[in-house]
Amino acid sequence: MIYFDNPATSWPKPPQVKEAMNKFMEEVGANPGRSGHSLSVEAARIIYEAREALSVLFHVKDSSRVVFTLNATESINLALKGLLKYKDHVLTSGMEHNSVMRPLRDLETKGIEVTVVPCFEDGTLDPREMEKRIQSNTKMIVLNHASNVTGTLLPIREVGKIAREYDLLFLVDAAQTAGAYSIDVERDKIDLLAFTGHKSLYGPQGTGGLVIGERINEREMTPLKQGGTGSRSEFEEQPDFLPDRFESGTPNGVGIAGLLAGVQFVLGKGVEIVRQNEMALTQKLIEGLKEIHQLKLYGPENLNDRVATLSFNFSHLSPSEGAFRLEKEFGILCRPGLHCAPAAHHTIGTFPEGTIRFGLGAFNTEEEIEAALQAVSLIAQER
Ligand code: ALA
Repeated sequence: MIYFDNPATSWPKPPQVKEAMNKFMEEVGANPGRSGHSLSVEAARIIYEAREALSVLFHVKDSSRVVFTLNATESINLALKGLLKYKDHVLTSGMEHNSVMRPLRDLETKGIEVTVVPCFEDGTLDPREMEKRIQSNTKMIVLNHASNVTGTLLPIREVGKIAREYDLLFLVDAAQTAGAYSIDVERDKIDLLAFTGHKSLYGPQGTGGLVIGERINEREMTPLKQGGTGSRSEFEEQPDFLPDRFESGTPNGVGIAGLLAGVQFVLGKGVEIVRQNEMALTQKLIEGLKEIHQLKLYGPENLNDRVATLSFNFSHLSPSEGAFRLEKEFGILCRPGLHCAPAAHHTIGTFPEGTIRFGLGAFNTEEEIEAALQAVSLIAQER
């Protein structure tokens, strides 16, 4: 079997992730930060260590500003709904996932103004197009770091600079890049970084987080939920400090233990090395696909403008037929269709059918790329 569905969730997970989760279940298992006994303290220590490891990865100075959530979608909802108010204006791009577009469309019905800045057909964005659309009531820019459809990298550094210049909040959706591409919240001028744990951080599903930058006053940010935090239990009001303000209810201890091991796996290899390896395979894959004439490839030409995800279509098969045959005849697992990102497919001209997507991860090999190229070529040639 060849697994090319890493943009949906990475697989396999490193053995140490499974070991850490098992260890948590068998030897820790208690509710973190609640009870004060030794197992509860150990659970809280693991969660603290995960916050610290993520802070090292993203260059966050104060790890209490890393808030755990279920996934990038929850983080994006928290950032948008927690900060945008009636009559605020928000800018975004034409390459966003529905994790951004759906909360924004919902906020639009509540009096928040949304502008979608168009991207080029390969998914790239000219930051000046973003700047041109800033208004007096613009409060935030929300931008995908890399498209889950084409792998196109969007210019977060340039847009971050613009956001800072105009004193706007800058929210980055790093679902496809956290762990796979260098992110430094200080250097990149990111105020809010939404990430998932189960993709390039190699943790389990049900883990993710939001980095809340120092320019944000957490007391002025509304939580998505309120409840028990294990802190200040004498008060019925939600704590106003981080991370507790946004972490009500028992956290996903076993998941966060796995996420910690995943982040340590990435830090151990080094993000740059992970990227180099993935991009070497991506280059081989793209070069091979380009030689197959009956295919249409989407996304930027330049490897520096993308991550290890790409989209293509056969000229004689729908994306779902193509993906079905790739699995049935060649054991290649990938995702066809719209990838929960209709905006991106409008931009690249593949709406409503979508594309076939291949997304690589740390465990893919050259042999798999060669086998996949042969499979795609065989299907394409039958035309
Ligand atoms: N957003 C994930 C994907 O692109 C689930 O497949």
